Amino acid sequence: MSIERIGIIGAGQMGNGIAHVCSLAGFDVVMEDINPEALDRAMQRIEKNMHRQAARGLIKDEQIAPALKRIHISRTLDDMKDRDLVIEAATEDESVKRKIFHDLSPRIGPNTMIATNTSSISITRLAAATDRPEHFIGLHFMNPVPMMQLVEVIRGIATDDATFQAALEIVKRVGKTAAYAEDFPAFIVNRILLPMINEAVYTLYEGVGNVEAIDTAMRLGANHPMGPLQLADFIGLDTCLSVMQVLYEGLADSKYRPCPLLVKYVEAGWLGQKTGRGFYDYRGEHPVPTR
Ligand SMILES: NC(=O)c1ccc[n+]([C@@H]2O[C@H](COP(=O)([O-])OP(=O)(O)OC[C@H]3O[C@@H](n4cnc5c(N)ncnc54)[C@H](O)[C@@H]3O)[C@@H](O)[C@H]2O)c1
Repeated sequence: MSIERIGIIGAGQMGNGIAHVCSLAGFDVVMEDINPEALDRAMQRIEKNMHRQAARGLIKDEQIAPALKRIHISRTLDDMKDRDLVIEAATEDESVKRKIFHDLSPRIGPNTMIATNTSSISITRLAAATDRPEHFIGLHFMNPVPMMQLVEVIRGIATDDATFQAALEIVKRVGKTAAYAEDFPAFIVNRILLPMINEAVYTLYEGVGNVEAIDTAMRLGANHPMGPLQLADFIGLDTCLSVMQVLYEGLADSKYRPCPLLVKYVEAGWLGQKTGRGFYDYRGEHPVPTR
């Protein structure tokens, strides 16, 4: 399976990061989103992040212009027709993803491989929404993609060996390290990380500590680079809630029940950094705890 042309569906924080690393690795990229503003924001972010990497000596200045030129933006899945691999990185909502795969399948060639960047949803179930479960795989990049070394690779029940090998090859070519995870809810990283974040929200909800105390405690007491509430804001509270719901329903264990306070923040539209407010308020010069 020779992969040179990659399509990316969704130009949010993950989609733009995946486009960034793929274009720097020399792939031709089409990045599609239903929201034109998301596409504009994504291109600006990619350019800014590449310059930041160049300033830190991680890439060369001369790499930036050709890499940006390799990224084409689109608002229609029709532009996926000549892609060798399509990576779906749209909103973490199973019905949204199923509709995308349903619409995508007839528009691409029979040998095109499809990957999903889902944080938690069953790869086997998503594969069943396509016409090619054997060419379908989970490629779970971490946020922020240009900086994080890991990609979880998850096979569905039908994923064939050629698709798995091609996925490992892609991970290598973008300079990352693969960890293989079985197809269980939230895989490895989020199975461990999200219950910790959810517990931090319970700690806040029960008044054990305020936002600042909880984050300081975990930064200095457990040596985490970011506090769990800061991390939740960074991931996106909607994504955090969605992962907890998948764990709760998928494993039928009450220990995964999403904290009601997390639900309340999401209902308020306080989704973290991406909307300007979450456990911190980002609208001023410095983030200010909201509790
Ligand atoms: N945020 C993280 O830390 C993180 C980490 C790893 C994986 N993920 C996963 O990556 C995926 C994207 O997450 P994100 O944080 O980038 O979300 P985001 O909210 O930043 O971006 C999602 C994008 O998808 C677009 N979209 C929605 N429906 C679409 C459709 N039908 N067609 C095309 N585009 C559509 C939205 O307009 C938006 O721009 C999710 O599955 C998420 O679970 C997220």
